[in-house]
Amino acid sequence: MNDLTKLTHQSDLTALRQSYAKGELRRADVDDNPFIQFNAWLKHALESHQKEPYAMTLATASCAGRPSARTVLLRQFDERGAVFYSNYDSHKGEDLAENPYAEILFFWAELEQQIRVSGLVEKLSEEESTAYFHKRPHGSQIAACASLPQSGVIADREVLEQRFVDLKTQYPEGSIVPKPEFWGGYRIVPDQFEFWQGRQSRLHDRLQYRLENTHSSTEKQWVIERLMP
Ligand SMILES: Cc1cc2nc3c(=O)[nH]c(=O)nc-3n(C[C@H](O)[C@H](O)[C@H](O)COP(=O)(O)O)c2cc1C
Repeated sequence: MNDLTKLTHQSDLTALRQSYAKGELRRADVDDNPFIQFNAWLKHALESHQKEPYAMTLATASCAGRPSARTVLLRQFDERGAVFYSNYDSHKGEDLAENPYAEILFFWAELEQQIRVSGLVEKLSEEESTAYFHKRPHGSQIAACASLPQSGVIADREVLEQRFVDLKTQYPEGSIVPKPEFWGGYRIVPDQFEFWQGRQSRLHDRLQYRLENTHSSTEKQWVIERLMP
């Protein structure tokens, strides 16, 4: 095997190194409320003109314990949690129906920052999902209807394009596309956050927020801890 052939079969990345020096994260810098902290970092990422900083990796697991991950778009974030939209019959939808825990992850390379948020996932109400569905561009509404079942195997691309054309004939621009039952929103209700800031020599800063029961009542409080890098 010559060297060129070798290259097509393997990638040795062990010599690639990136040093991180853009910021630091001290306990005194972060808000006691992780939702406020999250929104501060997201706002900064949006203002830094990253491409789609609201694109996040969503990790789910089946009840058999097999994990899977994919990118989805964060559509709303407030004190109730993080909202994204998808097809309920997709692979992720099946995982979440069996095991409603998930984690989302944002990595902003330019800022050398990562955020992880995990918790229990709930479906949005039909009203909330329908309201958002109709805010989407007409083509996106049609595409959501055509992708049935999302993650199902199709013979070729033409099948999909034909469905798209048929649905466009049925629902021309300007008409109301009914939201399919299998499409809607999910909300991750966080019980854990982690904010990561890259530092030199791999001594990265990691601050974790964890929801803990208080002694006196059923109320919970956020505990902030520094983690080993
Ligand atoms: C940038 C980007 C954004 C995406 N946004 C979404 C989204 O908001 N919702 C969604 O269902 N799929 C989205 N996808 C497609 C998913 O990554 C994935 O292919 C699809 O949801 C099927 O995943 P599953 O088979 O694990 O359920 C996006 C993909 C990319 C690359």
